[in-house]
Amino acid sequence: MQHLIDLDDYPVSWWNRIISLSKDIYTNPARYQGACSGKVMGTLFYEPSTRTQMSFQTAMLRLGGSLIGFDNPATSSVSKGENLKDTTKIVSGYADILVIRHPLEGAAKAAALTADCPVINAGDGGHLHPTQTLTDLLTLTLEKGRIENLVVGMCGDLVNGRTVHSLCKALSCYQGNRFVFISTPELGIPSYIKDILSAHGCEYKELSSLEEAMPELDVLYMTRIQSERFASVEEYEAQKNVYVLDKEKMKLGKKDLVVLHPLPRVDEITMDVDDDSRALYFKQARYGVFIRMALVLTMIEGRDTTQLLKGSVLRDVCCKNPKCITTREHYLPKSFRKSSDIAECEYCDERILL
Ligand code: NCD
Repeated sequence: MQHLIDLDDYPVSWWNRIISLSKDIYTNPARYQGACSGKVMGTLFYEPSTRTQMSFQTAMLRLGGSLIGFDNPATSSVSKGENLKDTTKIVSGYADILVIRHPLEGAAKAAALTADCPVINAGDGGHLHPTQTLTDLLTLTLEKGRIENLVVGMCGDLVNGRTVHSLCKALSCYQGNRFVFISTPELGIPSYIKDILSAHGCEYKELSSLEEAMPELDVLYMTRIQSERFASVEEYEAQKNVYVLDKEKMKLGKKDLVVLHPLPRVDEITMDVDDDSRALYFKQARYGVFIRMALVLTMIEGRDTTQLLKGSVLRDVCCKNPKCITTREHYLPKSFRKSSDIAECEYCDERILL
């Protein structure tokens, strides 16, 4: 069975094929009408979504397929206490492809372990968001002309922003990309992402001032402060509105700067920036449909096999991340990748010192 949980499940050549296919769908939409006729997509959205959910739905409808699913677990049997395994097992028996978004990290992988059809991760807590990343790569390809040799600024909630984590991992696989992380110390980029960048030989620096970063950036990736992932309202209040991109700051940017944002925006970009030709976030959201059409087409045929767990269960070792799916769904095998004295949870990537 073929799943998309993390872009690392596939080689870069596969990502490039998805991007090329989505470009062809964008240019020749008529060619793909009806390509998924008779097929059903199941969307399991345990967390709110506008763009991801609707762009997947639009993708399936434009391919001639049909939809089932929920966008509010309170109206499904989840509210009666059904576990993720059973819900996935049942819906994957009705559908040909499943798209899942869940507040817990590693939930998409957990779902894929029991699904009878391909599973696509549409966001698992603060962890990963691979389909947004492919959308971002397509946007850069079409609007910037390249996904290599870029100075990429990432600004805002870098600790909880799953789109940031997936995009950093992906861009580190293309040549010559350099990263500037702009955040408060509390919302800094996780160390496991920094380690991945270092392992790929990518330079990065961490700044606290957006003004200081602006002049050198080719791409500015703004993000929302993720209120729902803070332990308390006070902690969120202390972080909100620290970084606001406005017309004045845009003056510090290059002429060919590209401003992206996975959206939704709260207050981090003022609305007068929308009229600047360098603000591409609305286009970016639209490109998401073509990426998701390419993904559905490729995955529903599903010729590959995704190996979901490659590590092993270690005696008496449990994941320490309270947001990991294994802390809630206790039947899951607690599988780890082990290297010397460190074990990495295979669901959420949390590291545990042994
Ligand atoms: C993002 C998400 O859900 O992670 N939005 C999206 O999918 N387009 C970003 C966010 O919620 O801030």
